[in-house]
Amino acid sequence: MRKKIALVGAGNIGGTLAHLIGLKELADVVLIDIAEGMTKGKALDLAQSSSIESFNSNINGSKNFKNLKDADVVIVTAGFQRRPGMTRDDLVEKNSIIIQKVGKEIRKYCSRAFVICITNPLDAMVSILQKSSNLKTNMCVGMAGVLDSARLKYFLSKEFNVSIEDVSAFVLGGHGDSMVPLVRYATVSGIPVPELISLKWTTKKRINEIVDRTRDGGGEINRLMQTSSAFYAPASSAIAMAESYLKDQRRILPCAAYLNGEYNVRGLYVGVPAIIGKKGVEKVVELKLKAEEKKLFNNSIKTVKTLTNLAQKLIKK
Ligand code: NAI
Ligand code: 2OP
Repeated sequence: MRKKIALVGAGNIGGTLAHLIGLKELADVVLIDIAEGMTKGKALDLAQSSSIESFNSNINGSKNFKNLKDADVVIVTAGFQRRPGMTRDDLVEKNSIIIQKVGKEIRKYCSRAFVICITNPLDAMVSILQKSSNLKTNMCVGMAGVLDSARLKYFLSKEFNVSIEDVSAFVLGGHGDSMVPLVRYATVSGIPVPELISLKWTTKKRINEIVDRTRDGGGEINRLMQTSSAFYAPASSAIAMAESYLKDQRRILPCAAYLNGEYNVRGLYVGVPAIIGKKGVEKVVELKLKAEEKKLFNNSIKTVKTLTNLAQKLIKK
């Protein structure tokens, strides 16, 4: 039997996710969104593309959360993007309430699914989603690290003028200004970036600029697009996570995973490298950080904790 992926939120990311799932024939898709006409229309448009792209996945749209039933994977993008004039706290308040509702529906209809949260502010929202859905913590995870790492990899491949395939890199910490791109672990065909600096392929200054650009990755696209935020790379990132789960690929992917003592953090979702396989998040990879990296990571944890506490207070109101 074909697998089923439910996409809660049929906006820019939701639609792109559905298209990618169809093109890869990963599963059947149901898009669920409060905007019923848009969702049904988008699903029909996507389904019609199967005639040209020759895929057999079924794609349907609905506003009814009953359609979560039997989903193997749920990807959540429901909520607001930050718009001009909107504070970060406005976004937390509005999206916490939406995510809490979505979590309750997941609890009702598909409490055994693997659930990936994308809605911002990511680290706080995945925590609300897990609490309201009562999912096991290894079955509820946030997407941000794959995207932030993809941005870092892309910038490095351009800097060195080499194929993106040969670049490996990852980012730790929360999805925001406090994220920690770990240059020490970035490599080109196995050669660490610090060594490439010694070989004069680049300079420390250029790498620092790339790190800053990575931290501002979402903001840069937002400023260019004005009325929306990034959606192609975010969708590809979540698909990599869903695919690793569905096909038991056991990929090590940076994602907002629940920490239970790892990195000396307990009871918080933060971006760390993790193995994703058929049991969800199967292992958090715990790295030995250097003093400076630890300082940056701890600072990021502090920011995530503050926002997560705020979100939890807001939904209790
Ligand atoms: P969008 O505005 O295109 O789509 C959001 C959809 O959510 C809309 O169609 C809206 O009708 C729907 N929605 C609102 N309330 C709902 C509810 N109660 N139930 C079901 N659907 C509901 O936004 P887009 O571009 O798809 O982004 C979605 C979220 O993802 C935003 O919060 C954005 O900030 C975040 N994001 C996160 C990234 C990450 O790395 N974690 C990267 C990029 C975006
Ligand atoms: C991004 O990083 C806005 O979180 C979103 O593109």
